[in-house]
Amino acid sequence: MTQLFSPYTLRGMRSRNRVVISPMQQSAGVEGMATDWHLAHLARFAMGGAGIVFVESTAVEARGRNTHGDIGLWNDEQIAPLARIAVALRRDGAVPAIQLGHTGRKAGMQKWWNGHGPLNETDAARGESPWTVVGPSALPVGPGWPTPQVLDTTQVDDLVQAWAAAARRSREAGFEALEVHGAHGYLIHQFLSPVANQRSDRFGQHRWRFALDVAEAVRSEWPDDKPLFWRMSLADVVDGGMEFDDMVGLLLALKERGVDVVDCSSGGGISSYPTQGRSVSNNLLFRAEMAAQLRAATGLQVMGVGLVIDPQTAEDYLQAGQADLVALGREALYNPNWPVHAELALGVNHDYATWPLQYRMYLVRRAAAADALRKSNMTRSTA
Ligand SMILES: Cc1cc2nc3c(=O)[nH]c(=O)nc-3n(C[C@H](O)[C@H](O)[C@H](O)COP(=O)(O)O)c2cc1C
Repeated sequence: MTQLFSPYTLRGMRSRNRVVISPMQQSAGVEGMATDWHLAHLARFAMGGAGIVFVESTAVEARGRNTHGDIGLWNDEQIAPLARIAVALRRDGAVPAIQLGHTGRKAGMQKWWNGHGPLNETDAARGESPWTVVGPSALPVGPGWPTPQVLDTTQVDDLVQAWAAAARRSREAGFEALEVHGAHGYLIHQFLSPVANQRSDRFGQHRWRFALDVAEAVRSEWPDDKPLFWRMSLADVVDGGMEFDDMVGLLLALKERGVDVVDCSSGGGISSYPTQGRSVSNNLLFRAEMAAQLRAATGLQVMGVGLVIDPQTAEDYLQAGQADLVALGREALYNPNWPVHAELALGVNHDYATWPLQYRMYLVRRAAAADALRKSNMTRSTA
């Protein structure tokens, strides 16, 4: 028995293993609605054996979308296509999970394949006009970026309620785990960081306030028997940004408010994106060390992510007690069957027992035929 493929239980959620598909924005939504692209994209990860599959960052309000193609849960009509995805993921054996987000001053960007800079007139001519972005203070991400409209205190309170409403809709859509996107220089991270938050109201005097209010609001709509994940960037990429010690205190406060798992990311800096020449290590080892420290200091469950490619590395990572869950991003895009292949590689499953029923018998026969072919080729080459 490996750690990676041992079942995982948290509150009322039970996952068949510890392989998680990290949220990955597709920019394939239409007016905030998930499409058949999302269904096909996500279902293949469940068919490929992942334990928990996260739907990408789903905006809690239209202004919070990163691109025109982002999906959202800011109205009830957006529930149905996501509910269909939750059913498909569960049917194929995975825990259906969703990430909620708001990109704040990083909203209104081009899709990746159009450059991923702020929307401009060329985009507008294509039907993708810029919109007014919002943030804690009138500080742009960097030169050439729009200056966000400052949210007043009442608007921040309203936004907290938007998170609660999106959590309610996630519950109604049938998701079993929910993650708050508190990382990557997006709105929550903007409120946390002195680089982006220079307010004097209660959301500036205490920069954790917004994050804590969001955690409470989301928990009030998210059932006790379902786990709550929180994505954190392990490092700011500018001077004067958040420090590691700040994170421990913040995570302890979030834990008190019902957060169960910290998802340790390090992508997307607080300032610009990409990070204007400064970068944070994408390396699992860097993240693993910090993740392990957070795990010890907070007692939270920890999810590690970042260039997980080799199954044995993922297994060692769990065996070393550096994390409780391992998430895959790009590797899953490269090979959506990574989990079932990893099981074979780690010797857990030799008979395709965890592959979809529809495939199993044929894969057993394929393996036998491939074996026979190999042997006959060997006989021919040695004859
Ligand atoms: C296409 C793509 C879209 C992504 N979208 C999101 C997202 O919606 N929310 C998020 O928190 N991270 C997002 N990420 C980051 C991934 O969740 C993951 O943390 C990152 O890719 C590192 O893992 P990897 O090295 O296995 O790819 C995205 C990554 C990719 C490649």
